Amino acid sequence: MKLNQSISDQNYKIAMGRLLVMYTQVDYLIMRAVAERITDAPDDEARLFMAKQVGDESNHVRIQQAWIKKFGTDTTPVFSQLQQEMFLVHFRSLNWLDFLTDMYVCIEALGGEAVEQVVPMADPGTRESLKVPLQDEIDHVAFGLGRLQEELAKLPPAESYAYLKTIESRLDFLDDTLHGMGIDVPGMFRAVGADYQKVVSTVMLRRQQILESLAQPLAA
Ligand SMILES: [Fe+2]
Ligand SMILES: [Fe+2]
Repeated sequence: MKLNQSISDQNYKIAMGRLLVMYTQVDYLIMRAVAERITDAPDDEARLFMAKQVGDESNHVRIQQAWIKKFGTDTTPVFSQLQQEMFLVHFRSLNWLDFLTDMYVCIEALGGEAVEQVVPMADPGTRESLKVPLQDEIDHVAFGLGRLQEELAKLPPAESYAYLKTIESRLDFLDDTLHGMGIDVPGMFRAVGADYQKVVSTVMLRRQQILESLAQPLAA
């Protein structure tokens, strides 16, 4: 693991550039998927929060775009037009419960955890650019997990337990999808100096913690 890398290292610069472009694309897609969902969110509280989140993600995209320009990296998209469309189609197809799981557990909480792992390796400018986005993500994750908890509490206990079991497979499915897109995530992480195995185990640990936190109130 290499800490605090410098943008004068070309290999680092190319790899971090790709991660920054990918991260910005994901924020942009989150913004669009959440914006679409506002219309049929279950209540005003959710709509108000999601509208705020859409503003946050828009701000993240702006911050990242400005930093990418200064960083001076290749801005070619990591996700093709078709892959971006597939992302939106996927989120459109989900009911509220699955939307909460895929958006807030998979993308926001676990994706965010993976990004956090890169921060110590990053050059100072990149670290600075991630400050506001990662701070806001905490808020987004709290909303999603809280809502997920509420939805699970509404179900008969046997059904909520069964749903918790499916969360694991939903996470695996999304993970496989990313690999299936031919995006070499391990390679990208390694190239910026991260220990990929460590990133994976940290993300898995977080997943375990989330599943336990969701199961706890059900047992009470
Ligand atoms: Fe974001
Ligand atoms: Fe977010």
